[in-house]
Parts: sequence; C-alpha cells; structure tokens
Amino acid sequence: MAEDLRNTVERQSQYIAGGTMSLNRAINPSKLFVRAKGAYLYDVDGKEYIDYHAGFAPYLFGHGDPEVDEAVIEAIRSGASLIGAGTMPWEAEISELLVESVPGIEQLQLTSTGSEAVGYALRLARAHTGRDVVVVMQGGYNGCFDYVSYNLMDPASFVEPHKPGEEYPLSVTTAGVPKVIDEVVRAIEYNDLEAAERALAKGDVAAIILEPILQNIGIVKPLPGYLEGLRALCDKYGTVLIFDEVKTGFRHALGGYQSLCGVTPDLCTFGKAVANGYPMGVIGGKREIMKLCSDPSPEKRVAVAGTYNGHPVNVAAAKACLTRLKTRETEVYGELERLGARLETGLKQVFETRNYATSIVRQGSAFAVYFMDHAPVNWRDIALNHDAQRDIAFRRALIEEGVFQFPVITKQGSISLAHTDADIDRTIELAEKVVSTLT
Ligand SMILES: Cc1ncc(COP(=O)(O)O)c(C=O)c1O
Repeated sequence: MAEDLRNTVERQSQYIAGGTMSLNRAINPSKLFVRAKGAYLYDVDGKEYIDYHAGFAPYLFGHGDPEVDEAVIEAIRSGASLIGAGTMPWEAEISELLVESVPGIEQLQLTSTGSEAVGYALRLARAHTGRDVVVVMQGGYNGCFDYVSYNLMDPASFVEPHKPGEEYPLSVTTAGVPKVIDEVVRAIEYNDLEAAERALAKGDVAAIILEPILQNIGIVKPLPGYLEGLRALCDKYGTVLIFDEVKTGFRHALGGYQSLCGVTPDLCTFGKAVANGYPMGVIGGKREIMKLCSDPSPEKRVAVAGTYNGHPVNVAAAKACLTRLKTRETEVYGELERLGARLETGLKQVFETRNYATSIVRQGSAFAVYFMDHAPVNWRDIALNHDAQRDIAFRRALIEEGVFQFPVITKQGSISLAHTDADIDRTIELAEKVVSTLT
C-alpha cells in the first residue's frame, strides 16, 4: 500500500517543475508525508514525527487546530463567499482587530501571501518617498519577488572579503530578475548601523526592509540599539522603515515583535502565524502612507489589488487566531515561552559535555542550534563560524529518530501550543541519542 503510493507520487511528480511545489521544500532524507495533526507529522509508512518545521512556521496552535478549523467550517457553512464587491463585514472586523493589536498599523490591506504584502510595502514606500532604491539585509528573506531576491545566505567565500560598514556586491538568488533591478537594490549586513547609514546617506533610498529578528537563518537577534538606530537613520534620511514580520509577527506577541522591541516601523508586513496555516498576508502601517491606496490623484494612488484579498475562509482563520491571542494572550505566550525554555535548557545540557561549541538561541517558541561558540550577530558571522556539516548531520539523524526539523542549515525550529512537555522531553532524549553519534 505504502509502496504503491510512493511509486504513484514519484511517477506523478515528474509533472511538477522542480519536483516540489515550492523549490525550497526539497529535502534530504527524502520523506513522503501524508498527514499532520497537532504537533505531529505522519509519513506514508505511518511513522510519527514530532514536528518543529511547522510548514515553515505558520502553525502557532499546531496542525489542524480545532478552534481554527471550526471557524473556517462555520464561515463556509454561513454562506460567506468571495463576493468581491464593496467591503464585507468580516473584512472590516479583522481590520479593526489588527489595528487594535499591532502598534505600527493604523490602516491596512489584506493579501493572500507574505510575498504580496512585501511587494505592496515596497510600492507604497516608493510612492510615498518618490524614490526607487530598496535596502535589503544579507541573510534576510522577504518573499519571492524580484526586488528582494538578493544576498540570501551567500557562501563564506563571498562574505569573507566583506568589511563591516560596507555595502555588499549584489548576488541575485534566482535567474530571471531583470538586470535593471540591480540599480535600485542595495544589500547590507544586519546589525551593521554604519553600513545602513552609508546606504541611506545617498538620499535616494525609499525603504529599508528587514525581519526585525532574522528568522530565515535561525534566530539572529538585533544588538542593543540596532533597531532604534535604524529608526533614527530612517527619520534622518526620509526613508521608510519596513519591518517584515511575516515570521516574527504573531509568533512572538499579539502586537508583533515591534511591540516587544519598542521600535515602531512605518510599514510592516505579516503572514504565516496570523492565520495558523491558512493563506493570508497583511500590509499595514502609518495612515499617512497607507492612505495612498485611495489617493484622489491617479499619479499618486497605489494599486493594491487581488481577487482573493480578504478571502472569508482565511479571514475566519485569522479572526479565530487573533481573538484567541487577544483573550488569552498571557496564557498562550506564557505557555509557548515555558515550552521553549524547557527545550532550550534540555538541549544545552545535551551539548554541554561535547568537545565542540554550540549556541542555542531562542525567542519564545522559535529556536535554533548553532554549531559555533557564540550567538551569531549576522549571516557573515554564521557563514564564517557555523559548522554547517554538523548542523545538517544533527538534523538528518533527528529526522530518522522521529523529530522533524527542516534539513537545511540554520532553519529555525517552531514550537506550537500543541506540543506537550512529553514531546519536548522526548526531543531532548532523542537529541542526546543522536548527538552521541556526531563527530
Ligand atoms: C520574513 C518573510 N517574509 C516574507 C515571506 C514570504 O511569505 P510567503 O511565502 O507567504 O509569500 C516569508 C516566507 O517564508 C518570510 O519568512
């Protein structure tokens, strides 16, 4: 039975360009997952895995969360449909909920993905400033569109000659980006205020976009004063500060990471945990910028348009998540922090007696194990100091034992509210077992 399905999927996959439905999903060891529930994934052989991948992080409440699913089913049964004319009550309601929750959102638009939200944020920033250039961070991921497809995890040989305070040469992450885009993108290193100042001082930068914690290369936190420094530089040079909170967003706080760090961006984007696995993105920010969406002058008006924007199914999921976070904020984030701390303590003990260095970095329910002797400050630090081979060996060995962390170096782990103490303890036990086999 399992073998039949494996063969069928293998045959049919020849029709999927690249073999997986999003090119970053390719995995080694190869697994055929068929089902997920709560904190677990199940493969075609019925083997259970404790899941820390969480589908690249949306599942704050776990897979198939009953409250979220109930809200979705109720929306479908109630006759809510994608009417696409005027404003629907659920769209108005979720907008108010989001504005009440996130300090940096005075007005917003909904999208279906985080990438779209980022695309609109950049468009709004350009329209607002009348400038074209966008500054991105080495090691930051901001979705799949052209303007942000640069300098993601460049190899050590590329970053080694780079000097703090300098801009990076551009390195594009995909074929098909028009060469002309190079003229309006600058890439700098995270946690490098001098480089940010140099990039902005040219006076032509519309926006600087960053994940306030770099969570596509694990958990790389801002140094004290860094985000405040960026805020001050953006104010000084008239640049729009965009926090891409697609990953940090509701995973760390109902108000986003911005509510924890106390730095309010001009624009911010959300996705993933906002709807616990249902496809929704949010672009929001200062009214002064967002109001360009309805500017009376056609030359100034920014088009945000999408057939599926505010889709009732996705909005129902988001409403269920946000309402739960709002009414049980302390309880939810308290429990995630408790589980995160339990895993961190356990993993620290596992690695303590080894003859190589590790650094476990965590923000609430999100964690990363780095095989280096300090918490990294940026991608350059990781590229030059992290033992990538040990990282990948650790991940692969854990997968075979039934713990699924994505088998690509530095990928962040995500704990959900569906994880239990027993899951965490089992993970620590299995980590101890596999670590004893690592050289
Ligand atoms: C920080 C960040 N921004 C944007 C995106 C793009 O979101 P989506 O994949 O929903 O388009 C991602 C996706 O991983 C992300 O991590």
